[in-house]
Amino acid sequence: MTAEFTRGAQEQGQGATEPGTRRLMALRAFRAAARLLAPLCLGLAGGLALVASGMEAAARGWPWAALAGMALWFMQLLAGRALRQARAGGGVGPSRLTPAGGATDLALPAVVSAFPDPCVAVDRRGVVLAISAPALRLFPHLVIGRPMSFALRAPEFVEALEAVLNGGPGRTVLVTQRVPVERSFEIATAPLEADRRRGALVVLRDLTDQLRVAQMRVDFIANASHELRTPLATVLGFIETLQGPARNDAVARERFLTIMRDQSLRMKRLIDDLLSLSRIEGRAHHAPSAPVDLVDVARQITGALRPMATDAGVDIRLAAPAEPVIVPGDRDELLRVVENLVENAVKYGDGGKRVAITVTTRAAPDEPRREGAAKPEAGGEDAGQAASAAPSEAVIEVRDFGAGIPAEHVPRLTERFYRVDAQASRGKGGSGLGLAIVKHIVNRHRGRLHVESVPGEGATFRVVLPLADASHAG
Ligand SMILES: Nc1ncnc2c1ncn2[C@@H]1O[C@H](COP(=O)(O)OP(=O)(O)O)[C@@H](O)[C@H]1O
Ligand SMILES: [Mg+2]
Repeated sequence: MTAEFTRGAQEQGQGATEPGTRRLMALRAFRAAARLLAPLCLGLAGGLALVASGMEAAARGWPWAALAGMALWFMQLLAGRALRQARAGGGVGPSRLTPAGGATDLALPAVVSAFPDPCVAVDRRGVVLAISAPALRLFPHLVIGRPMSFALRAPEFVEALEAVLNGGPGRTVLVTQRVPVERSFEIATAPLEADRRRGALVVLRDLTDQLRVAQMRVDFIANASHELRTPLATVLGFIETLQGPARNDAVARERFLTIMRDQSLRMKRLIDDLLSLSRIEGRAHHAPSAPVDLVDVARQITGALRPMATDAGVDIRLAAPAEPVIVPGDRDELLRVVENLVENAVKYGDGGKRVAITVTTRAAPDEPRREGAAKPEAGGEDAGQAASAAPSEAVIEVRDFGAGIPAEHVPRLTERFYRVDAQASRGKGGSGLGLAIVKHIVNRHRGRLHVESVPGEGATFRVVLPLADASHAG
């Protein structure tokens, strides 16, 4: 049997079972010696008896040899019995408790250690006898020879364990720990029995991730419903007004219809974003492979968003190499990435009055680093590659010089519906899903998204994608 041990569990396990093992070995050695010596003594006694008539000294010695032989024979019988009892669990130590009705030959620590799930065996006092490696990873404070409740103090668990150790049936409890980080466990306790000894087997299941995903799903549905309900309520309100008090007011009708159209467009945008998100998630495991020119993608978005930027008083500049920068990808998805980033830079960084987009290539950071030179879109020279190593990554960077993002918000920006200022985002027509979509697309392209921001100085969103050649080579 192979068993997974961590160094700690193994050492602790050896420490706890050593006295029992030593006694077993001593019993075995004694029985073997007695088995060997008893026939020798008895044979000697017989031989001496035969020559007793002729030799007086031998005649005096044979009864002693016979007595010693018989005593040794008897003692090896006793040792054999003790050994059988010891193997069956009759008193060498607590580690020979076995699951009720189970095989008695395997030592409990070996069984528990081989368990692929987090699992702990305790004796009748709740003291730890054996720990599986996954259990030790979950609860590094578990120590063989110390009460399990020292490492897991949740009252629900302590109570359930006591009940089982006092003869009750096995129980399953849900336990949530708040420190150092919130974690939830399902803990099953089952009785262990051997002869009249009792202990318990504790099997732990970490539910933290499962519960987090469930909570995220609930939050997502609540958020999406809320985002849809607000514009829908506005539209319904105006419909009622138009059917009632404003029925014959032509000016109000025009104004209300404009608002209703804007709100309907907002709902449409949200539904479109939700659908794209679920589509991208559904394809997350298939990396797209069509050759896409990032320079062309950046150029197309810069052109498309320039009117919107000009309206906001923002100047957009693109710096990109003259030659194409080809990445394996999905062109429509990469257009959405750059569109979202540039749109955000214009919307939220408008105070800086300018947005800089750059496309570059470089060697991966663990290789000698080298930036491929980007050049301004209009005119200018391509400065070429500065170093000798072939570039393996494409980088597209969108930088604004506006208010920036406070540090505490940066790690959460790609969460669905997360906004620094919800009011401002809604006011600017945002769904709160843009960066979540960007993150999913970048992940699907096996790329990375970096966000840097110094409040007051602006924000930089950087997307790093593997270059076509590098990915073919890899
Ligand atoms: N360039 C930026 N400067 C400042 N804040 C930004 C920038 N880009 C994104 N944000 C913040 O991140 C939030 C999430 O962005 P996003 O997911 O695109 O949603 P939306 O644009 O619909 O609000 C925005 O609401 C905004 O608060
Ligand atoms: Mg956005």
